[in-house]
Amino acid sequence: MSRKPRAAAAPDQHPVEELTEGDAAAELESLAKEIAKHDRAYHQQDAPIITDAEYDALRRRNAAIEARFPELIRPDSPSNRVGDAPATGFAKLRHRQPMLSLDNAFDAAEFAEFCARARRFLGLAAEAKLSFVAEPKIDGLSINLTYENGRFVRGATRGDGMEGEDVTANLRTMSAVPQQLHGAAPALIEIRGEVFMTKADFLALNEAQAAAGQKIFANPRNAAAGSLRQLDVRITAGRRLSLFAYAMGEASEAIAATHSAYLTRLKQWGFAVNPLSAPLTSEQEAAAFQERIGAERAGLGYDIDGVVYKIDDLALQRRLGFVGRAPRWAIAWKFPAEQATTVLEDIRVQVGRTGALTPVATLQPVNVGGVLVARATLHNEDEIARKDVRIGDTVVLQRAGDVIPQIVSVVTERRPPGTVPYVFPDHCPACGSVAARPAGEVVRRCTGGLICPAQRVERLIHFVSRPAFDIDGLGEKTVREFYDEGWLHGPADLFRLPAREAEIAAREGWGRVSARNLARAIEARRRVPLDRFIYALGIRRIGEANARLLAHHFHDFANWRTQMLAATTIGSEARSELGSILGIGPAIAEELAEFFSEPRNVAAIDELAATLTIEPAAQANAVESALTGKTVVFTGSLESMSRPEAKARAEALGAKVTDTVSKKTDLVVLGADAGSKARRAAELGVRTVTEAEWRELAGYS
Ligand code: IVH
Repeated sequence: MSRKPRAAAAPDQHPVEELTEGDAAAELESLAKEIAKHDRAYHQQDAPIITDAEYDALRRRNAAIEARFPELIRPDSPSNRVGDAPATGFAKLRHRQPMLSLDNAFDAAEFAEFCARARRFLGLAAEAKLSFVAEPKIDGLSINLTYENGRFVRGATRGDGMEGEDVTANLRTMSAVPQQLHGAAPALIEIRGEVFMTKADFLALNEAQAAAGQKIFANPRNAAAGSLRQLDVRITAGRRLSLFAYAMGEASEAIAATHSAYLTRLKQWGFAVNPLSAPLTSEQEAAAFQERIGAERAGLGYDIDGVVYKIDDLALQRRLGFVGRAPRWAIAWKFPAEQATTVLEDIRVQVGRTGALTPVATLQPVNVGGVLVARATLHNEDEIARKDVRIGDTVVLQRAGDVIPQIVSVVTERRPPGTVPYVFPDHCPACGSVAARPAGEVVRRCTGGLICPAQRVERLIHFVSRPAFDIDGLGEKTVREFYDEGWLHGPADLFRLPAREAEIAAREGWGRVSARNLARAIEARRRVPLDRFIYALGIRRIGEANARLLAHHFHDFANWRTQMLAATTIGSEARSELGSILGIGPAIAEELAEFFSEPRNVAAIDELAATLTIEPAAQANAVESALTGKTVVFTGSLESMSRPEAKARAEALGAKVTDTVSKKTDLVVLGADAGSKARRAAELGVRTVTEAEWRELAGYS
């Protein structure tokens, strides 16, 4: 179909160079509406109102204004909607080894704490030397490249860390990805690195995009991600993408004894390794490196946001292992936060899924270190009072890494006359219930519980979020839309959405394909691992890590449910068992008990369980061993390893580690000077072993 061959009146246009910011914002707003109207007319009603040339002119005008005022790019910008494939449409690929993230340090003290933790874990003396490799941290997108007998066979984005999108065809267009490794190569290896765009390539791309009336990218990271994740690989082939390799996943044989030797192998195989990467032998050298790279940062050809420090010795890396999703052997030391000043236009109070009232500042949009910021957290009422933040104030804003921007202080010299101190509401802005603040707590909470619509919708948003049910195409906006429609009361209603496919398809902004994709994405999640299920419930203080601990400990849904109901009785064995799980503790046990004491919560869970297949906990990284499923307690001081290392090893072998000896304990490992727990084990007839016997059992060399 071609657009209607009739000319429409040309709007009287000012040259883009002469627009003020106000004009530009207003015109972008009307262009967004205008283009959306023509899109609907063309795609949904098959009834175009203007010619193709006129339509293209509108898009070009929009792109030209966005290119001159990138900070004014609207969330509903037309350039965000067409030309770039959405994130769906790629097949999923499972990584052989999970792709992890990194913990952050923001100053020398936090870096020193990282080193101290590693030494403690390894049982090393406080002054023991540690060697590192430092690598500038590029904010691009990480990818996993699989090579079989030296040949590139598959490549995937990081995704959720377990599985990503199959972008093999796109990666094949990149000259920086060797199709064949040079020299000898293992039968199988996963090589990880960062795909990014240089500053020069980013600027050139945006210029070309603007000239063609296409999407303008907000920063090099988005440009790299948008360029790689293209269903049409010809588009990727036309983009200039770079790659630095820096890590290893699974390998069929040992490649090196140190990370620096591994980087050398990567170079021999034909990869680019960041030339600024350097071996270091002390914390002092790391601090000096951090300072030097920080000073060179602006002059580099690509954006970096910090430096990654990795312990060089791979044997130590193996011993250190992981905690949650981050390795104990590496840390990202971020550069200091970037600051800017702007005007605070309003304070809105949001209600979170647990009822917490959070004040959020609405700001005059301002660019902070390359990112446009229009909102910032004010934390809580005490913080507002402490900083005396008032509506109308000019404030100092800061953002660091991925954290939510924060208000640091008020520029009181620039306070306009007539401002008044902010009064925090004592009623929930969403449901009008009393918002109470228990003595000793900083957070005020809505007491409306299940009747509060804001809490309900936030719980649903949490439920579908990435670490929870991770339903493709069902983000915050859509959940709110369907909630407002009255389709979603509780989480089980999400699984009734596929039955509304036709209704959804007919909605504005939807179509047959998108409604079908959504229905499929929901159906695909009827099968869910227990830890994600627990996390999705949004119980206070049950984050991803605690959800994994619970799933691991209770193994399957039916058992978990029974035990949680039993634990609602104070003083019950179930309650004390729950509280004795390492990492859970009595306070979190109480939180769980409170949740399960509410019959409506239990009903909601049961309604879900009836429609879902909840898979028992996978024993993450665990191998079948004599210790699988056993409950182990360590007591006394161990000589050959630290307590955390012993615990991590036991868990890697499939055992549960708890703090108290009970009838359910299978094994007590007695270190030196073991006291009451050793006696208790003897009384209960629980098996005890010495540290040497434990090393034997756990297969230490
Ligand atoms: S190592 C377990 N090395 O940072 C090791 N990551 O916050 C995890 N990144 O997803 C990755 N430069 O996208 C590593 N030299 C570097 C890196 C790097 C950038 C990114 C990567 C990763 C994220 C973790």
